[in-house]
Amino acid sequence: MPGQSGARSVTTNQEGLYKDLERVVRKYAGTRFLRPVADHTREAFSKALDFVESFYANREGVKDVILDSGCGTGESTLHIAKRFPNIPVIGIDKSAARLDRACSGKSPSSTGDVPPNAFWIRAELLDFWRLALDEVNAERWHIPYHALYYPNPWPKQSEATRRFHLHPIFPTFLALGDTIELRTNWEIYAREFEAAVRMLAPEGTRIECIPAEPTNAETAFERKYKEARQQLWRVLIEK
Ligand SMILES: C[S@@+](CC[C@H](N)C(=O)[O-])C[C@H]1O[C@@H](n2cnc3c(N)ncnc32)[C@H](O)[C@@H]1O
Repeated sequence: MPGQSGARSVTTNQEGLYKDLERVVRKYAGTRFLRPVADHTREAFSKALDFVESFYANREGVKDVILDSGCGTGESTLHIAKRFPNIPVIGIDKSAARLDRACSGKSPSSTGDVPPNAFWIRAELLDFWRLALDEVNAERWHIPYHALYYPNPWPKQSEATRRFHLHPIFPTFLALGDTIELRTNWEIYAREFEAAVRMLAPEGTRIECIPAEPTNAETAFERKYKEARQQLWRVLIEK
């Protein structure tokens, strides 16, 4: 239902969870998405590696890194960086326009408002996540927290397989983070995501899908939805 300030809630021709959810999620379980990684994301990733190295002053050993995937204008990256001041937080988005709009695109040290552990790069998530998993598997990175705030919902049934949990990238995504937090304004997305995680997550994983009422908006989309009084949802995965 549209709220008072006009941000539209998701319009969909889908009733309930995607009918083929289980088949699609299970089909990709244990597989790896094979499309070649784009050069521009490889270059962006090497900047992220450099940032992490310099943040830790080239210290040896496994390095904690936090991901803010699909960070848009980068506001959430700032909030997360303030929450975890001792860990580098990488905000990733493919949209140069969004990244340029707010604080991103500037070097972290270029303004006093940007914490030294926040960093943004323009990259394709489907590629970035695979490169990040290589770092995790090689025990160079450890990801304590991974944010996926308000991903594009792809609400038409015909576009459902573009949702991250219905895409071959999902097992890779799920391997990135001890704690993963999805935020969305579409209940069906939250419920599907939760169900997909339940199919693939290791035993003992804590999975919670709950209505959310954040006091302060932490992203541009969250602000818009809150002002429109839309119901927000949160899926929290703790391995
Ligand atoms: C609905 S916006 C939400 C942005 C931000 N998280 C917020 O809450 O304000 C979704 C963002 O994900 C980014 N995005 C979607 N698919 C992506 C992909 N495959 N790779 C990188 N960024 C992607 C879009 O560019 C967009 O900025």
